[in-house]
Amino acid sequence: MSKIKVLTIFGTRPEAIKMAPLVKEIEKNSDVLESVVCVTAQHRQILDQVLELFEIKPDYDLDIMKENQNLWSLTSDVLLKTKEVIDEVKPDVVLVHGDTTTSMAAALSAFYAKVPVGHVEAGLRTFDKYYPFPEEINRVFTDAICTYYFAPTDKSCENLVKSNVAKENIYKTGNTVIDALLYTVENHVEEVEGLELKPNLKTILMTSHRRENFGEPIREICKAILELVKNNDDIQVVYPVHPNPNVRKPVYELLDNVERVHLIEPLEYAQFCSLMKKAHIILTDSGGVQEEAPSLGKPVLVLRDTTERPEAIEYGTVKLVGTDKVKIVSTVEKLLRDETEYKKMSEAINPYGDGLASKRIVEVLKKIK
Ligand code: UD1
Ligand code: UDP
Repeated sequence: MSKIKVLTIFGTRPEAIKMAPLVKEIEKNSDVLESVVCVTAQHRQILDQVLELFEIKPDYDLDIMKENQNLWSLTSDVLLKTKEVIDEVKPDVVLVHGDTTTSMAAALSAFYAKVPVGHVEAGLRTFDKYYPFPEEINRVFTDAICTYYFAPTDKSCENLVKSNVAKENIYKTGNTVIDALLYTVENHVEEVEGLELKPNLKTILMTSHRRENFGEPIREICKAILELVKNNDDIQVVYPVHPNPNVRKPVYELLDNVERVHLIEPLEYAQFCSLMKKAHIILTDSGGVQEEAPSLGKPVLVLRDTTERPEAIEYGTVKLVGTDKVKIVSTVEKLLRDETEYKKMSEAINPYGDGLASKRIVEVLKKIK
């Protein structure tokens, strides 16, 4: 019997981190599966960092990123350019990940070519179409198109059932981000070059990039950081700044050259993992970081009003703080001073996976033909 041809399409940093262990697992099963990898390069530099770490050499690189790109051109570039790849490869299945515009447009492209789609990290929902924007609609749309649903948790499976997805097409696999995290933490301990942190200060690690936080919300977040370092001389903040110009401009305007605030370039994944392990508290609006930090036992304060990842909130290691300066400052200061509260939030828990998600997905793929 001929091999099952799996075309994996991804384009941004988080998709690459979460698809890398799966690509590796597909390659390990080369007796049954043929792996073809296509990157849209919706991200360039921060995608390449991941490809290098996991030693993935894409078969197709569509190189679409433009400076300060917009959703319209991004969508049409992914749609048109993946069509050519799908036509040439003629895959048995296309795999996409999560909720980016690459995922949604690549899934649509496969659907137009009548190729079945597998959605990795299916079923996440906030049920609010503008939060996060445009990710909520990207994942709803992708789930509407696809045939195989690889859902990370019970909650994501339930969301799919509620959307009338047939139960036999839903596979609870755990999230491949935990596969990536465990592999990286075990195999690549890398310090951040040139970052001089004071060992006697508590480190607050922060990231932010959500489109709905552009403008005033991101400025409020920065003002909260200013207030926190002014009030608390026992903390230092490390902020690897996302390359999106809508993030970099306000962040550098407000936080550059501030004492005990380290603005640095986006970190290679292994270095970021080392920093998460060192951090006392993590402030973020990232999806992936909300999933990784609880398994490292780090309290996470989410700079958003809603999340599609309620599991760690239920366990008590993640809290939503939004983007209000006063709320961010008071929540961080409570965590800095209240040991009981800190302990409660720093239990290591793993609601998102056990490191075997990629293996479970591959078992399903091996049986699709
Ligand atoms: C994208 C995803 C978002 C995901 C995030 C992860 C969409 C619409 N958004 O948001 O869901 O959470 O990635 O980080 O799919 N840039 C660079 N170099 C890079 C990457 C980005 O310079 O390596 C700059 C470019 O100017 C680019 C801009 O950032 O135009 C925005 O990139 P884009 O992918 O459109 O949006 P993100 O905010 O990164
Ligand atoms: N990350 C990284 N370097 C950084 C910041 C984040 O490798 O400087 C990793 C992080 O550990 C997580 C992923 O990037 O796995 C999250 O990406 P991002 O926040 O850009 O996107 P989201 O998860 O919100 O879609």
